Amino acid sequence: MSINRILIIIGGGIAAYKAPELVRAFKKQGINARCVLTAAAAQFVSPLSIASVSGDKVYENLFDLKDEAEMGHIQLSREADAILVAPATADLIGKMAMGVANDLASTTLLATDKPVFIAPAMNVRMWHHPATQRNLEQLKVDGIRIIGPDEGDMACGEFGLGRMSEVDDIVSQVMHGLNQHETEHAPPALAKNDGVLSGKHVLVTAGPTHEPIDPVRYIANRSSGKQGYAIAAAFAASGASVTLISGPTDLPCPTGVQITRVETACEMLAHVQAALPADIAVMTAAVADWRVETQASQKVKKNADSKAPTLTLVENPDILAWVSQQSGAQRPGLVIGFAAETENVSEYAQAKRIRKGCDWIVANNVSPENGIMGGDHNTVDIFTNDDQDKWPAMSKTEVAQKLVVKVSDYMLKQPQ
Ligand code: C5P
Repeated sequence: MSINRILIIIGGGIAAYKAPELVRAFKKQGINARCVLTAAAAQFVSPLSIASVSGDKVYENLFDLKDEAEMGHIQLSREADAILVAPATADLIGKMAMGVANDLASTTLLATDKPVFIAPAMNVRMWHHPATQRNLEQLKVDGIRIIGPDEGDMACGEFGLGRMSEVDDIVSQVMHGLNQHETEHAPPALAKNDGVLSGKHVLVTAGPTHEPIDPVRYIANRSSGKQGYAIAAAFAASGASVTLISGPTDLPCPTGVQITRVETACEMLAHVQAALPADIAVMTAAVADWRVETQASQKVKKNADSKAPTLTLVENPDILAWVSQQSGAQRPGLVIGFAAETENVSEYAQAKRIRKGCDWIVANNVSPENGIMGGDHNTVDIFTNDDQDKWPAMSKTEVAQKLVVKVSDYMLKQPQ
């Protein structure tokens, strides 16, 4: 998605001093930045310096009648192709999560239907506070993309998560996010055999899991969740009732899908168990195989004279195997697993299908040179107990739509 104009809402934090640099970085990409300053932001960065780099008026006051006549808050959002809140303070995040609209920044954010990105910046304890984390969860559900924050030294003298991401990272994540937005909002092709899936309950897992080491570190993998979200979207578009249990991702919840966001494999298993019974289960999540046996309650410190800590790992539950082994009404009629392999893809995938007890396995070769992890395309082979389908490279959205067609065909053949 190419854009011409971004609206940057500058919140009142010390990181506001990076706003002129941000405006310049967007300009370099050929994108004009128009800026809204909150009252607090104007204490950290002068409207004049922003106006001179953006070459545009800086908007500050909702009740400035001249602005409202010339350029109402609705108009501000209408004229932008996307909105970025940077720095996004705890206060602004809270207002967005609650739908509060009492100044120009918050009113504009409530009035927009454009893609919204936020680059949070705040003290580490404010970041970890349950209220902030709760608000961020709400924003993710609302489809808002969260960029950062980074870990590092803070203006308040503390160290931790809460520094606003670097300007170049923010710009590249906005550009990447806009491309993603375009893919996700492409109208899904209607599945053949339309109606077969109507009202069926489809359970989908997606994304990575994060297995904590201490309050700031975790073990994770490179799964983006894109394939699973595309599958959830495609089933919802074909009339199914879709429950998506997702590990941590920045992806917005697809339209018509009931999402539960989790962090760890154990949480994912608990929510999958609670979501059963289902007619179909598609387990795309890249669940971590191991977790740290005992999570440290405080950040593990590095001391000059101490040795590196040893992490003792224990095995995580295998969610796909657990679902496949259920019986009676608890066992979905069709259980589909995914196999991410880097070598001997077909052989390993077939063996996995049998070992785990699922009905189909969708195998993809995730060697880094294929760019599948985090990318927008996929090349898959599907193994069932009696056949193998080889699909050419296509977008993850197309893989999802073709999979829905294959599932519909299968369901049609099943005795009612
Ligand atoms: O064992 P492996 O991770 O390669 O298996 C991949 C398949 O198993 C995927 O469908 C994945 O969602 C599922 N899986 C799971 N629980 C695990 C590990 C993998 O559901 N602990």
